[in-house]
Amino acid sequence: MKVGEQELRSILFDPAHPGEVQVIDQRELPWRLEVVTLSSAEEVYLAIRDMMVRGAPVIGALASFGMYLYAFNHSTDLHLKENLDHIAEYLISSRPTAVNLAYAVRRQQEVYAPLTDNDSIIRAMREEAVAFMEHEVEASRRIGEHGVKLIEEAARAKGGETVNVLTHCNAGWLATIDHGTALAPVYEAHRRGLAIHVWVDETRPRNQGARLTLWELQQAGVPCTLIVDNAGGHLMQHGLVDMVIVGSDRTTLTGDTANKIGTYLKALAARDNRLPFYVALPVSSIDPALHDGLREIPIEERPAAEVLEIGGITASREYHKVRLAPEETPVKNPAFDVTPARLITALITDRGICKASRKEIAALLERKH
Ligand code: MRU
Repeated sequence: MKVGEQELRSILFDPAHPGEVQVIDQRELPWRLEVVTLSSAEEVYLAIRDMMVRGAPVIGALASFGMYLYAFNHSTDLHLKENLDHIAEYLISSRPTAVNLAYAVRRQQEVYAPLTDNDSIIRAMREEAVAFMEHEVEASRRIGEHGVKLIEEAARAKGGETVNVLTHCNAGWLATIDHGTALAPVYEAHRRGLAIHVWVDETRPRNQGARLTLWELQQAGVPCTLIVDNAGGHLMQHGLVDMVIVGSDRTTLTGDTANKIGTYLKALAARDNRLPFYVALPVSSIDPALHDGLREIPIEERPAAEVLEIGGITASREYHKVRLAPEETPVKNPAFDVTPARLITALITDRGICKASRKEIAALLERKH
């Protein structure tokens, strides 16, 4: 996507510098666009754990590079494959909910498993990391192409009036390398000249909507308005929302979907107001081993400080954190919730649109591009 005149992605890899990968430090946005160089699996682990890089598809792609960087940095290790197996578990442990992370790491393990010499392992892992990243970019592009049809239909039904989409958290290009998941159909609609407007949930506690989604949409020139997380239901009751589109961190074979905390409440409000609730995701976000999202999807608990403190800039553009609640306040901070399949109108995937049902998801997984 373009930032000013610059074409940018949230992960950059230059084969001329094979020992490093560059990422956008998402914690600095929207105040500062900072590109950071990572050159070891440990740095990749910390970047994911501390949410310098966040969003399900992009953390999968970055973890794939993390595996490769470990091999690159240990080219003479006599026990490289064994050590890579440990690094795999270490990287997967950085964030438990998004399945893309484990999916990408397991793919790297399949790549090196049959190989015997370190040079071939390093070369094959580099190719896999680059191919995985490019595949995710293409998947996002396809999500946009499939999803835009739903926006076009809504526009037709409204006689060409502006279509209002509500989204939660950040499922744009920052979260997916390029294009986005939930935002991919929005960007495609805007590119095609459709009148579109996005209600952006601020997404407490880390405010990915206020800091990242708004920034992305504004860079792309898509009309958007920031709302507090609790405003969505009210806007729906007053006919100001035409559809909800969110991303997914993990979707079960039965269609239950884990996404940023608060997503479930939007789905309930959409159902009460008879509005379509779509989940946009690449196939790498589907966990075919799981059948019951509420019981089986691990929900990450984040530090209390995310709830107790908030950061922002002053009028003189200095960044400060302030405390929001009394000291020593007990906090519970689940980072995701599960929206049951019955509340989801459809899944928008890179392989097409389908119902959030076991039958249609299984058929989708069997389908080739
Ligand atoms: O905790 P985060 O910011 O990584 O959570 C991300 C989300 O919930 C996104 O909506 C999700 O990854 C959707 S896919 C781009």
